[in-house]
Amino acid sequence: MERDNDQSGGIRGGAGEAYRFSVAPMLDYTDRHFRLLFRQISRHSLLYTEMVVAQALHHARQQPGASEPGGRLERLIGFDPAERPLALQVGGDDPALLAEAATLAGAWGYDEINLNVGCPSEKVQKGRFGACLMADPPQVARCVEAMAQASPLPVTVKHRIGIDERDSYAELLAFVDTVAAAGCQRFAVHARKAWLEGLDPKQNRTIPPLRYELVQQLKAERPALTIELNGGLQTLSDCQQQLQRLDGVMVGRAVYEHPLRWAAVDADIHGDESRPAAKASTVVRGLIPHAERWRSRGDRLWPIARHLVHVVEGVSGARHWRAALTREAGAKEAGPEVLDAAARQLEERGL
Ligand SMILES: Cc1cc2nc3c(=O)[nH]c(=O)nc-3n(C[C@H](O)[C@H](O)[C@H](O)COP(=O)(O)O)c2cc1C
Repeated sequence: MERDNDQSGGIRGGAGEAYRFSVAPMLDYTDRHFRLLFRQISRHSLLYTEMVVAQALHHARQQPGASEPGGRLERLIGFDPAERPLALQVGGDDPALLAEAATLAGAWGYDEINLNVGCPSEKVQKGRFGACLMADPPQVARCVEAMAQASPLPVTVKHRIGIDERDSYAELLAFVDTVAAAGCQRFAVHARKAWLEGLDPKQNRTIPPLRYELVQQLKAERPALTIELNGGLQTLSDCQQQLQRLDGVMVGRAVYEHPLRWAAVDADIHGDESRPAAKASTVVRGLIPHAERWRSRGDRLWPIARHLVHVVEGVSGARHWRAALTREAGAKEAGPEVLDAAARQLEERGL
């Protein structure tokens, strides 16, 4: 049985202009717990899942009880409706498997399906997808077309400005034009090329220089497409500067490592000033209902609490608070009461 998760009053068939600020997909980081954590900070930003391999989805759905809580498929793509607007990011190069993933994304209540054409890891290259697909725009087009036919959700692509020696602006433009003609209208562009050999994924996020001007040129020459810039953005003011020329900004590491740095994102970027900016204590407290539900299905607290160590930084006692949370939440039997105590300590200090 597949579920329809569309109970949140979210926008069906798309996520409005949530893409103006999005949190980049990050394997091991942007899991369902971190996404709910960030939802305590921003109601409107577009969130992405970690990359899920289309083939893994295909296998998972064959398992008995796959869609039930804790089942194989639910573990891969289950989420809380409060996480929306939410995009499912998939990896793959087989149009049929990607079409199947797009159908699943719709059935499970996602707002968008996004294809990863940016990951340079060796494992992903062996599967012939991720960034190496930039060398084969017609294949990406076939994938996008199959996904768009299978699902009414917007199909978007996250990619690099180039790979290896294929790094000219003309090649970037040709890639985008080919993929746009197949049905993708929104592109999240990591403004760095990737070296497929010689650099590991971490080095590929730091060593190739950021070239924002190429992404800006792309937007200037293709004004009808929605173009988001990703890579190296550190602050809200960095983002606002880019938003003068681009449709959206996507931030990864600086959101994960400093979530409260973005407390004004709803007011400053999404134009919603109706809620007070989140504080560390409101983030921790806001996760307690989720922790209760999660524990009641027999799962441990730690996968939730591990993300919280980043919400307290730059104040005296931060290290002590983090150490205590790590110790207490790491215990096998730890439950929501650990978060309650951690929130109380922060409230006493007005944090
Ligand atoms: C730990 C980690 C995991 C990542 N996993 C993914 C992923 O699953 N899919 C993807 O498209 N990009 C992934 N990325 C790349 C980010 O989405 C983003 O493009 C990159 O970090 C540059 O943005 P930033 O400078 O704002 O972090 C990952 C990055 C990091 C640091």
